[in-house]
Amino acid sequence: MEPPKNHSTLYNQRYQSTDHYWDFKPSSMAYKVLEIRPPMNQKLKLLEIGSGEGATALFFARNGYDVTAFDLSEVGLEKTEAAAKKINLNIKLFKANINEYAPTENFDIIFSSGTLQYLTPERRRPFIESLQLKTNTDGLHCLHTFVKKPFIEKAPDAEDCEYLWSSGELLQYYPDWKTEEFFEEIKPCNSGGVSHRHVHNRLWSTRLN
Ligand SMILES: C[S@@+](CC[C@H](N)C(=O)[O-])C[C@H]1O[C@@H](n2cnc3c(N)ncnc32)[C@H](O)[C@@H]1O
Repeated sequence: MEPPKNHSTLYNQRYQSTDHYWDFKPSSMAYKVLEIRPPMNQKLKLLEIGSGEGATALFFARNGYDVTAFDLSEVGLEKTEAAAKKINLNIKLFKANINEYAPTENFDIIFSSGTLQYLTPERRRPFIESLQLKTNTDGLHCLHTFVKKPFIEKAPDAEDCEYLWSSGELLQYYPDWKTEEFFEEIKPCNSGGVSHRHVHNRLWSTRLN
């Protein structure tokens, strides 16, 4: 099933309803990117997929990466733009649907957290392969997926256009890359005001050739 074309309205409403719908903190995964691929002597080109309100994109830009980011929510993109402008940072932002996007330029780092569940299952392999094709040698992918488990109840605010991944599935798309770290964890969440749990898979993997 394709996501509804007006799906951006849900996140637009969420992002409009408050200063920051999510904690305005960078993803915890971003710190490890900084640790294993710091922008030492060169500007590393980084793409963020599903940048939301921009906390992680801003973190990367502040730390010296050359950041490009996209999301389906115009409100999220506008908030990111405004926050970047306030501190004189330049982030290249555009609106795109993950189910239609493929990169047309190369990147050194590709990052995504909390968004790959919007890919329809048949788009997963071609999408990841399109990212891999446009990743420079020594480039890093840092990706997150929500995973389904029989013993974890469905999130109360889950949408019809979210498709949870299988445990370990993300790693299977990286047999020829050097995986720096991959792990699974179960964490509590209170989104929608109801306490529940999510299973996360997190991957950091390097293209060596
Ligand atoms: C759970 S939020 C995560 C946002 C951000 N990565 C973070 O961690 O704060 C999911 C994001 O995916 C975006 N999104 C939803 N469907 C999308 C799609 N089909 N294409 C691109 N982005 C989408 C939403 O607008 C939202 O900003």
